[in-house]
Amino acid sequence: MSNISSKKIDHTYKDQYRWNRVYGKELLDVMAVNPTSFNLDNLWLSESQKDLLSIINAQIENSSERLKILDFGSGRGEFSIFMAKLGAQVVGIDIGSDLIKLARKIALQNKADCTFVQGNINDLPFDNEEFDIVVGCTILHHLPILGVKSSLSEAYRVLKPGGTAYFTEPIENNPFLDYLQNLVPVGNPADSNYRPSILQKSAWKKYLDEADDRALSNKELEQAKGYFKSVKFRYYGMFIRLQRLWKNHYFTLLLKAIDRYTTHPLSPINKLSQSVLVTYYKGEEN
Ligand SMILES: C[S@@+](CC[C@H](N)C(=O)[O-])C[C@H]1O[C@@H](n2cnc3c(N)ncnc32)[C@H](O)[C@@H]1O
Repeated sequence: MSNISSKKIDHTYKDQYRWNRVYGKELLDVMAVNPTSFNLDNLWLSESQKDLLSIINAQIENSSERLKILDFGSGRGEFSIFMAKLGAQVVGIDIGSDLIKLARKIALQNKADCTFVQGNINDLPFDNEEFDIVVGCTILHHLPILGVKSSLSEAYRVLKPGGTAYFTEPIENNPFLDYLQNLVPVGNPADSNYRPSILQKSAWKKYLDEADDRALSNKELEQAKGYFKSVKFRYYGMFIRLQRLWKNHYFTLLLKAIDRYTTHPLSPINKLSQSVLVTYYKGEEN
């Protein structure tokens, strides 16, 4: 998420194997030495993922049959594992072969009944109408605009009639805010996900050339809906961006309290939030 930039949207697929190298290959080595760090209690979920998990839990509880869920870009498989633990039949798909190996190991260790398949979300190896739900956590913003459209059309194809697709994604709806945010460097210059300041001209250009993700907007996510009947947004994090300026517990609590109002569905400025939970309905909204 720290790699978001105000880069122009293009149609080029960027190399997506950084995650496989950093979070696949390297974490397989970590797991061999310290397996307990991959126990469910030690796995972390964002606020939007926690909300998504409770939405899915409610759907599981209200269904008379076992729900079948597909996790787009499943990575290390944490979210798939949490959904499987709720009782769903979960399949995770990711292009990274080491990530698939790691996800299988983490699922086995946590006794979660899910399957992981290596594949591309732009060309799914599944039949039409196989799944009740498609989910994706921070995946669409790694694709070019045509990739977002084609993966959503694949999601539509594999969903049963009345099925739903949910994505948690970072967004940038305001170029000025985007610029302000990019003034402050993020992370450690030695790390692969370091983001320099937009004022450091050559470092910024290099960062943009190498970034494997980009800024998405509500407008793009709405326009990419294809045959889905409707789209709904829920917003997360606005003033919390400022916590970087002063590392103080009470300041962070204050920013979170302010965000409860600014990101509320009725807030007139909620589109300025930093991330969304976007829902695509194949049938009527439920
Ligand atoms: C930002 S990571 C998110 C991983 C996971 N969903 C999570 O929340 O931790 C994006 C993931 O998408 C995968 N990915 C990127 N492009 C893909 C594609 N076209 N098909 C399948 N997986 C893809 C990457 O390998 C990576 O694991």
